[in-house]
Amino acid sequence: MQRYLDFNATCPPLRVALDAADRAATEAPGNPSSLHWAGRAARRYVDDARDQLAAYTGAESGNIVFTSGGTESNNIAIHSVLSVAQPGSIVTSAIEHPAVLKPLEHYSTEKAKALGWSVTRVAPDANGAVSAAEMIAAINKDTRLVCLMQANNESGVMQPVQQVADYCREQGVPMLVDAVQALGKKPLNFKAMGVDFMSLSGHKIGGPKGTGLLLVRRGVKIVELTPGGGQERGRRSGTENVPGISGFAAALGKIDFTTFSPIRDLFEKELVEKLPVASIIGKDVGRTPNTSLVMLPGMDGETLLMQLDLAGFAVASGSACSSGKREPSHVLMAMGMTEQLARSSIRVSFGPGNSEADAVALVDALVAVFRRLKQMAGMVI
Ligand SMILES: Cc1ncc(COP(=O)(O)O)c(C=O)c1O
Repeated sequence: MQRYLDFNATCPPLRVALDAADRAATEAPGNPSSLHWAGRAARRYVDDARDQLAAYTGAESGNIVFTSGGTESNNIAIHSVLSVAQPGSIVTSAIEHPAVLKPLEHYSTEKAKALGWSVTRVAPDANGAVSAAEMIAAINKDTRLVCLMQANNESGVMQPVQQVADYCREQGVPMLVDAVQALGKKPLNFKAMGVDFMSLSGHKIGGPKGTGLLLVRRGVKIVELTPGGGQERGRRSGTENVPGISGFAAALGKIDFTTFSPIRDLFEKELVEKLPVASIIGKDVGRTPNTSLVMLPGMDGETLLMQLDLAGFAVASGSACSSGKREPSHVLMAMGMTEQLARSSIRVSFGPGNSEADAVALVDALVAVFRRLKQMAGMVI
């Protein structure tokens, strides 16, 4: 039996989203920029989706720039601010997704430092939560951009975005919130949050892959990453992905992720009871309701993942986006763990179709794999 327990990596597309995408592709096959009837029909699909997405995120339709996903949204926001800024400081957390950390690396090279750039990456505490006070303390009059994710993709731990956003607004410092993992799991209100940018991605909530958006505060200038035909009011050129956009809007609000917290909690309770060596990151702080980041000291997360895969369970080790690479989780490393410990995690993220029986079956499989691996290593437990 195959069980999918990796919803933070992606949520398999919902039927309602696929149907909406199919409808958009067949009923409105024109280019939304074309002036004729076929173009106008496609434009209507994009506009309707834009209105729905704006209403759901507490934004106005004009705030939305459609993109290919969270990665592109983060890159557009960062590029828009920093490519036209005087050298200065950038403040972020050490646990951001690579879609934020990688583009910021450009500003921490020796050459960038010589020009006057600096990047402060604030480390989280032992629960995986970044302190708002530490973020705020790192911001000064030369700060050009602040980036803080709403929920971490590995641990699910919520970050104190609002407190940092309030300070940034007071100081007039642009802020980017990567809310990709929070969409559908926590109410988001872009206007009330008062930040300059927020990134979202459709495939985490059951929309088609390759469709996301960047919310941009009114009046904030965008510097295009891919200049071209001037779509999205000159903010993101390229013909809009009409089916993807329609599918994204159709997926909104269709999954109630809070319903997975009893399954997640049962999984954690059973696991710790049966394998007392296991510990759960962020157990006592606010987390997304479907996520469990488990530490199994002495184990290798990749090996566990492969063994569980053989038993039909799809889970992740550390960040899904870096799976395939043999790098320890940067999130756990930032929490002060040794490299070996940081390699000993698996991430389970529940979603539609999962049941308490799946949680219990996963615990049993994990315990069996754990015992087998320990025996193979010649250890007695
Ligand atoms: C927090 C976070 N930001 C950004 C991304 C990238 O989003 P996308 O896959 O839509 O490019 C992900 C994907 O895992 C994520 O979890």
